[in-house]
Amino acid sequence: MSETVHKPTLYSAVQPSGTITIGNYIGAIRNFKLLSDEYDCLFCMADLHALTVRQNPADLRRRTAELAALYIACGLDPEKNIIYAQSHVHQHAELAWILNCFTYMGELNRMTQFKEKSLKHADNINAGLFTYPVLMAADILLYQTNVVPVGADQKQHLEICRDIANRFNGVYGNVLTIPEPYIAKTSAARIMSLNDPTSKMSKSGEVDSYISVVDDPDTIRRKLRRAVTDSDGEIRLDPENKPGVTNLITICAAMRGCTPEEVCQELQGKGYGALKDATAEAVISVLSPIQEEYKRLISDKQYISDVLKSGAERASYLANRTLRKVYKKVGLYQG
Ligand code: TRP
Repeated sequence: MSETVHKPTLYSAVQPSGTITIGNYIGAIRNFKLLSDEYDCLFCMADLHALTVRQNPADLRRRTAELAALYIACGLDPEKNIIYAQSHVHQHAELAWILNCFTYMGELNRMTQFKEKSLKHADNINAGLFTYPVLMAADILLYQTNVVPVGADQKQHLEICRDIANRFNGVYGNVLTIPEPYIAKTSAARIMSLNDPTSKMSKSGEVDSYISVVDDPDTIRRKLRRAVTDSDGEIRLDPENKPGVTNLITICAAMRGCTPEEVCQELQGKGYGALKDATAEAVISVLSPIQEEYKRLISDKQYISDVLKSGAERASYLANRTLRKVYKKVGLYQG
């Protein structure tokens, strides 16, 4: 009798609330396609999370489709991986409710992201913003996830997810798998903002601070030409004293698939202009084929809609198994 071999499950979600930057690409997305051999992967468009701040409805809808197209254009196979929108799988909101009842106000109050977002959106500190980590825990726990690739900004959220799951299991037995952070085998390069290279490149920064995966070649050249450097004129790695130059070298090397040292060697004695040009051309050559594929996919509305529909069906099947178990354990009448 043949046995199905279960690979561990990897869960990742991104809010469809902006664009994808080359930081996301280098740090996460380009590695995802390799991970799908080793893990059963789910890639979620966290559209419910996006609602914790005001969204223009048409933009949110469009960005959800764009994000799906972008994932696929970056090489994620929608048959091998489950690519879906969070709102299409009703079990997320349902498990989030149950988990709300296993989460303390004090815990949520300590979340640094909540504090930051409350300051940024002082006119709209809604309960969804407060319980955001509980919905995120539901996302992860619904699929009995083993690993979650998280950046530094989401570490605390994964930690509370583990706390909630352990608390639940403490009462009802081993119902929920405790997820671990995914640690990349090769430490991923950290890509910094172009105009403030001491902070991380982010889609919520100023438009000139990041390069979007869909920026055209002229925009990429312009943004890199304006990138902040320093005045000593030497091309070398020095994150402390030369964060801007180090960032450019890092981007260039990541895009070329070589080491930062090789970039430095090649450009030794040249000016920052040469480094910026080399970086721009490296970025453009990686992004061009992705953008071409992206344009083709985004114009095929039916295809994207089919991918999301099938992703939601597959996700829903898995999610339902966990939710039923949870409902039963907590004592909801099952008939
Ligand atoms: N909060 C994450 C972010 O903004 C997105 C997210 C939602 C997520 N649900 C998740 C990430 C589950 C990992 C796992 O980046």
